Amino acid sequence: MIKINWKVIGMLTLAGCLVTGNKALAQQDSIDLKVESLLGKMTLAEKIGQLNQYNGDWEATGPVTKDVGNKINEIKQGRVGAVLNIMGTTHIRTFQDAAMQSRLKIPLLFGQDVIHGYRITFPIPLGEASSWDMKAIEQSARIAATEASASGINWTFAPMVDIARDPRWGRVMEGAGEDPYLGSLIATARVKGFQGNGLGSIDAVMACAKHFAAYGAAIGGRDYNSVDMGLHTLWEIYLPPFKAALDAGVATFMNSFNDLNGIPATGNNYLQRDILKGKWGFKGFVVSDWGSIGEMINHGYVKDNYEAAEVALKAGSDMDMESRSYINNLSKLVADNKVPVSLIDDAAKRILRKKFEMGLFDDPYRFINAKREKTALNTPENIEAARDIARKSIVLLKNEHQLLPLSKDLKTIAVIGPLANAKKELKGFWSLEIDKNENNVSLLEGMQKQAGQTKLIYAQGCNITDNSRVGFADAIAAAQKADVIVMAVGEAPDMTGEAKSKSNIRLPDIQEQLIKEMKATGKPVVVLLMAGRPMIFNWTADNVPAILYTWWLGSQGGNAMADVLYGNYNPSGKLPITFPRSEGQIPIYYNHYNTGRPAQGDNDLYYKSAYIDLPNSPRYAFGYGLSYTTFEYQDDPFYSKIAMKDNQTLAISFVLKNTGKYAGEEVVQLYIRDLVSQPLRPVKELKDFRKILLQPGESRRVTFNINKNMLSFYNDKQELITQPGDFQVMIGSASNDIRLQRTFELVN
Ligand code: NOJ
Repeated sequence: MIKINWKVIGMLTLAGCLVTGNKALAQQDSIDLKVESLLGKMTLAEKIGQLNQYNGDWEATGPVTKDVGNKINEIKQGRVGAVLNIMGTTHIRTFQDAAMQSRLKIPLLFGQDVIHGYRITFPIPLGEASSWDMKAIEQSARIAATEASASGINWTFAPMVDIARDPRWGRVMEGAGEDPYLGSLIATARVKGFQGNGLGSIDAVMACAKHFAAYGAAIGGRDYNSVDMGLHTLWEIYLPPFKAALDAGVATFMNSFNDLNGIPATGNNYLQRDILKGKWGFKGFVVSDWGSIGEMINHGYVKDNYEAAEVALKAGSDMDMESRSYINNLSKLVADNKVPVSLIDDAAKRILRKKFEMGLFDDPYRFINAKREKTALNTPENIEAARDIARKSIVLLKNEHQLLPLSKDLKTIAVIGPLANAKKELKGFWSLEIDKNENNVSLLEGMQKQAGQTKLIYAQGCNITDNSRVGFADAIAAAQKADVIVMAVGEAPDMTGEAKSKSNIRLPDIQEQLIKEMKATGKPVVVLLMAGRPMIFNWTADNVPAILYTWWLGSQGGNAMADVLYGNYNPSGKLPITFPRSEGQIPIYYNHYNTGRPAQGDNDLYYKSAYIDLPNSPRYAFGYGLSYTTFEYQDDPFYSKIAMKDNQTLAISFVLKNTGKYAGEEVVQLYIRDLVSQPLRPVKELKDFRKILLQPGESRRVTFNINKNMLSFYNDKQELITQPGDFQVMIGSASNDIRLQRTFELVN
């Protein structure tokens, strides 16, 4: 039996380094020493064991591997470094107990897809992105980490930072939408939230930036599909959120299922070795996606798992999730001189370092504390925080004649629709089934709590997808008795998510029929759309006076929607992704190039993006979202200079005034266009924004500072550069609602 005293090794190094005065460095050096010392005691088989991750027994989130053998025995033999999909301290303890029976007692990592909440479910990430509120997004991740870590989990497979320009792609719900700047800020916020005060804190979980890289650009929006992309787009659009996650200190990366320009991401040297571990200097470890090492056989990139293991490890994939290619082949690959032990050492060291940083060697059970699990979950403050971020995620798309907020004096409201009394559906895809529904509040329940004297009559009307009109009569009868109709329509949780790409993203026909029937009653109709992706609902958009896009808001959705309907919260959400008019317009995004024939208007045929059967514009643009109040952008002494030198900043200011009757928040957006550049720059790029709360009649000066970073871009050698010349600054309420604009010159 080998006994290692980690604490003594640590103290000796720490003492040595403290003499030189740098505590952080001292801690890192001390960990490096511990890792080296442990590695020196490990057999090759034990090192390979650290590179192996198995699914537990809660639920498989990928194709189940056949002939799995006895996992607990394998853990006891030191053949497993991490597991996923095991939840709850009691359960997790049995697995850690097994690891403690292995020769070197190396603790396991416990990973889980904690995507938008653990016990309390928060809005889906695309919904949260609509809040443009980094503090709230960080807090949501913080709470998820607090709950998950109290349940024994120490690693979340989040944030997903894939840019998505295609709402047919089911996983669009998991990310922050289409914009690299907004996506980067959100990646940072979520990493900070998950990792809290840093690895080693008892309530921090390791975050994982995924899926590296370009998974969001799967051709046709078909999940797992190939990606064909120029390097310019890769660097400008798809990589920035990953870099932001890295700069925020993300502990791990997950690679992706797709091939990128003919090379599977899992076996991609350029992505993992050249960029991630090379140019960017990432020190954490890379986990494969589920089975993606073995899937290189299906790609046709390697002939068997033996080759797959060789290619993946050499390309920089450190841990094998569920394909068993590493555990079954790496020893032989070393014996055959195909893989140097140094590569296995490097991967094992990266993984062990994280285990040390998390304090797992000091106490393998530190996250496995049943008492803490009982008290840390589901606290009233955290439930309140979930309600707050949920209402911040709602986007007001339309509000004719100020139908909203609803008056407290209404006698009767008909609450109609297949999602009007839905609870678990509001949690959406990637929510964990541990909630047992006790936190979940439906729209109807939320409204009941705030309705006061108003009578609510509920009728479901129809189901989400089948074609039965049986419930229509009740819905019409309810509507006829009401002053206003509030409808909840949209998607079921299994309609958007992993492996849930759709060619038709329209509101299901039966639900549109129900809306038409409600409209035919002549009563004012408010529609709330609950979904994981941008849907297409043109008839509703054209004919219904008030529309709220609520996404899937999570456990507190019903309370949050009632807050907005009754005006206890004035909606402030802005769309983080473009909503198309039809699937045929996809991909459609705001930061496109101008082309040689830029569109002059909506129906200009000889110009680009004109389809003869559609206007050029999208249904709703990136950055769009209304408020119950109105904001005026007053063009005051506008900017500090017209020529800016390389190392200077240029201050741009204006006055924002709340000209309406309600207090409200406006997300003021700043876009920049480089008017002449080589290579080309988009017609607009979001570069900064502010979310500003103003009381009715209140004005405030808003100042943006433009610096060189905001004007830089990648040249054809993927170097970040700026080019002197004219730039256009656009400030507005949405990408298609620019209120102020100016040009300035960047001079050398
Ligand atoms: C496959 C998904 O692509 C990935 O995002 C997830 O983390 C793993 N399965 C584990 O569930």
